[in-house]
Amino acid sequence: MAATIAVVGGDGIGPEVIDQAIRVTDAALQREGAALAWNRLPWSSAFYKKTGQIIPDDGWTTLQKHDAILFGAIGSPDVPDTVTVHGLLLPMRRKFDLYVNLRPAYLFDGVQSPLRDKPPGSIDMLVYRENTEGEYAPVGGRLYAGTPHETALQTSVFTRRGCERILRAGFEAARKRPRKKLTSITKSNAQVHTLGLWDEVYRDVAKDYPDVQSNSLLVDAAAMDFVRKPEVFDVVVASNLFGDILTDLSAIITGSVGLGASANINPERAFPSMFEPLHGSAPDIAGKGIANPLAAVLSAKLMLDHLGHAQSAAAIQSAIARVLKEAKVRTPDLGGKATTTQMGNAVIAALA
Ligand code: NAD
Ligand code: IPM
Ligand code: MN
Repeated sequence: MAATIAVVGGDGIGPEVIDQAIRVTDAALQREGAALAWNRLPWSSAFYKKTGQIIPDDGWTTLQKHDAILFGAIGSPDVPDTVTVHGLLLPMRRKFDLYVNLRPAYLFDGVQSPLRDKPPGSIDMLVYRENTEGEYAPVGGRLYAGTPHETALQTSVFTRRGCERILRAGFEAARKRPRKKLTSITKSNAQVHTLGLWDEVYRDVAKDYPDVQSNSLLVDAAAMDFVRKPEVFDVVVASNLFGDILTDLSAIITGSVGLGASANINPERAFPSMFEPLHGSAPDIAGKGIANPLAAVLSAKLMLDHLGHAQSAAAIQSAIARVLKEAKVRTPDLGGKATTTQMGNAVIAALA
């Protein structure tokens, strides 16, 4: 029986790029005689404005019945992030214990990096971002609102278990890569309690992986080195907020956020994993049909890997590499004039 995929296009360019991800995935699977059953769910800012809910009461149960979730983006200028992001995206990561947020960054042949003289393939890193706690823990509040003493608290939550499981996931991945390198991102020089614990766990876990060459790097220095010498990074493991910030950076140095894929994974498979481009709903270009769909397509590719369709996943990866190398069809973010659909068409043509 075909695996079932819950599709949440969401807001802005989300549905536009997800449409192409589905078309490309169908085309790739067809070649191996396989298929997925897509179940489109309308949850979005528009749905909220109509119903008063960003996800219906039974929505989480519905999602859980699927083998995976393909997600576009959520967030709209006319609906607060407390409704969209905090009602749907972040709870999904926590409820389904999607503690691994894997964000690969690869500089494709034919794509111009904003960094000078970077040859194809010279940027090739996997960022493992902690996805369920850290600086994103919904712990805090506001006191004395509207007074001169107004006080805001937002507490980071770092647990030994939380640090250990993301670091282990990173080490496991590093072990399987040719360079076998890992960088643990920290800021324990300033945040002694939370990132002090992170560092301790990193040193403990590293002992179990003597075959992996690892180091610890302060996040500010890491931001500099992502620009100065991104080629030194192989696997990078970071907390929730540091991983968020560093992956917009790792995506843009490979040419565009429109190429940044992500997988939100529950390795134990107790819940459906969720696959989404790392960019947002891009209100500035929404509705124009010019968004780059490749981040979404590459996220669907990660989903195919997760679901055991390695052959189709590899076919999509090479089709994208071919289209980018030929450089005939490119969306505006990559310096071209192609539409979202034309980019999808080009990848489908390259599959054949
Ligand atoms: P954004 O990623 O939506 O856009 C940043 C810039 O990148 C914009 O100039 C946009 O046009 C460009 N861009 C993004 N994706 C692109 C693509 N595929 N092709 C071409 N250009 C692309 O970030 P933002 O503007 O800070 O956020 C907009 C909204 O999206 C906010 O509400 C934010 O909270 C939300 N958001 C959601 C997610 C998510 O659902 N996973 C991720 C990031 C931001
Ligand atoms: C991302 C986004 C989200 C995050 C926002 C929308 C909360 O930026 O997926 O990278 O910070 O995780
Ligand atoms: Mn982000």
